[in-house]
Amino acid sequence: MLSTQSRPVIEATLPIIAERISSITPKFYQRMFAARPELLDGMFSRSNQKNGTQQQALAGSIAVFATYLVNNPETTPETMLSRIAHKHTSLGVVEEQYGIVYEHLFAAIAEDLGDALTPEIAEAWTEVYWLMAQALIKIEKGLYARQANATIYSNWKLVERTATGADSVSFSFEPADDTAATIAKPGQFVSMRMPMADGIRQVRQFTLSNDVESTTRRTVTVKLDVDGEFTPVLHNSLKVGDVVELSNPYGDLVIDTEGAPLVIATAGIGCTPSAAALQTLAAAGSTREITVLHADQEFASWPLREQMLESLGQLPNAKIRTWFERGELPEGLDAKAGYMDLTDSLTADSQVYLCGPLPFMHAVRSQALAAGIPAEHIHYEVFGPDVWLAA
Ligand code: HEM
Repeated sequence: MLSTQSRPVIEATLPIIAERISSITPKFYQRMFAARPELLDGMFSRSNQKNGTQQQALAGSIAVFATYLVNNPETTPETMLSRIAHKHTSLGVVEEQYGIVYEHLFAAIAEDLGDALTPEIAEAWTEVYWLMAQALIKIEKGLYARQANATIYSNWKLVERTATGADSVSFSFEPADDTAATIAKPGQFVSMRMPMADGIRQVRQFTLSNDVESTTRRTVTVKLDVDGEFTPVLHNSLKVGDVVELSNPYGDLVIDTEGAPLVIATAGIGCTPSAAALQTLAAAGSTREITVLHADQEFASWPLREQMLESLGQLPNAKIRTWFERGELPEGLDAKAGYMDLTDSLTADSQVYLCGPLPFMHAVRSQALAAGIPAEHIHYEVFGPDVWLAA
């Protein structure tokens, strides 16, 4: 809870911090990585540093948190904290590291604001920082405690790779050591850590697309990003028999077997959580009312198409509608040319899940809101840092 002394200070300085935060965060990371270069080996993504999305996500989260505290001093923004905590635990962030971030973040704030940073302002923002840190640490401890093991990464051997869609591959792994594996939920992801060409390890999160509840097999489906750093190594160098490090499964955007009518709207490789959910729901004999909406460039570029259609065939109350930007429309499937349109797919009590590129999710979310779906019934999964927060 934000103290009564700090509240007016935060309120008065929020506009200036919000305005300066995007110049503070690059200074923060420079300082932290100069002091702790090891954080760039197997923890922070250098691509997300380079393209600025990590700085944006951090800045956005702090601004959102402080604004929230001013307006609701008694509570914390659970959805946002939960997303960050799941990301952190998949990377192995621990309590002791919050002191490191504090030290360099506040040195960067002092550098940026100069004399404008009075002791009173520094104290109030320190309070905000530790409220946020403590909230995250508490959720993160709970998440670690729920795992079947006490390790961050264990070794998994690639046993199968299957091309799917135009430029995606499903990679299936089996345990390569005797670490007990946690049972995942549909919609969850694992972190994968691998050395890059220069020997520095990088990490990415991938949604489990198949075998979600298995403890002896993990499958992720990954689209090649030719300009990226990680996926070209995965696609072009990883052979059957090779071993990678995978984290325990995390992610709070999970899809339940039963419940209110479900609408899952995805585009491109964003269909991975949907494919996982459909398979798990089909295996559980779910009778939930499900509408799957998928948009892709063309029919052939749709990844996991066969898996999704097979699962849909086993779900008594599920239907699918598809949209393709080009190419011939498939027969025997509800398929239209052009962009996704939610008309006729929503009911007042629908729970809507979105996954795909940000512009797609913006457009579809607007359609759902315009159709009267309350914002709290619209859930989304961003691949990569959540820059939506900062917007
Ligand atoms: C990611 C906030 C502390 C390491 C993130 C993200 C946010 C965030 C918003 C992006 C989540 C997303 O993907 O959407 C914070 C806040 C902190 C904090 C507000 C303090 C109160 C820490 C600490 C560490 C850490 C102590 C460990 C040194 C990371 C890493 C990522 C991350 C490695 C992923 C970055 C990447 O994409 O490369 N954090 N964090 N964070 N955080 Fe934190």
